[in-house]
Amino acid sequence: MSSSDVKKKISIYNLKTKKEILNYYKDWTTNNQYNKDMIDWKYEAPSNSVKLLDHYSNDKSIKILDAGCGTGLVGELLYKKGYKNLHGADFSGDMLNLVPKNLYSSLELLDLNKKLKFEDESFEAVICVGTFTFGHVKANALSEFLRILKKNGLICFTINEGIFKEYKFDIKINDLTEKNDWKIIKFLKTSYIIKKEVESWICLARKK
Ligand SMILES: C[S@@+](CC[C@H](N)C(=O)[O-])C[C@H]1O[C@@H](n2cnc3c(N)ncnc32)[C@H](O)[C@@H]1O
Repeated sequence: MSSSDVKKKISIYNLKTKKEILNYYKDWTTNNQYNKDMIDWKYEAPSNSVKLLDHYSNDKSIKILDAGCGTGLVGELLYKKGYKNLHGADFSGDMLNLVPKNLYSSLELLDLNKKLKFEDESFEAVICVGTFTFGHVKANALSEFLRILKKNGLICFTINEGIFKEYKFDIKINDLTEKNDWKIIKFLKTSYIIKKEVESWICLARKK
């Protein structure tokens, strides 16, 4: 599907500035509406991603960064699978306010388009779901995720089908592979938001 076709499906896809997006999430979180919509829209990205990461991880004690954690939908699924060393980061304080208490060991309010405050090689996994989408986080964040990952660490992320080429994720992914920064284990098109008929790419890679 073309980028402009996908853009028509959900109104947030047409926003451009950080301020517009933060205001949108402020409204969307009122009365827990974001979480209600994700159930109603059959948003499958969190369960697809958690299943994929869990399939390739053989250790439940790994330290995981949930980058763009929002209200914690991904964290909750990881927690149910037995992962307890969870750390969340997002730039919307309104989304973070809806995160269940004690789900994450730490929560950071930060912009994933900037250099991250985390030390090199400080996580064993990074998961980033629903955040590589229109107007949100750009492909360069993948380099930052690799910087903060330990050798052999896992990275799992979705990319909205509408931005894959427009935001040059195709080029960035090839570049990281050619530089031998990671080894891609799975990369496929999958369901994302079923009711809105939007699909995503999903990727699971291991840092070299
Ligand atoms: C569609 S939500 C997905 C949230 C969660 N991962 C989930 O699957 O429900 C996208 C999230 O990305 C966050 N986000 C967008 N741009 C960001 C940025 N530049 N830095 C950090 N977080 C950002 C938003 O605040 C929002 O919580």
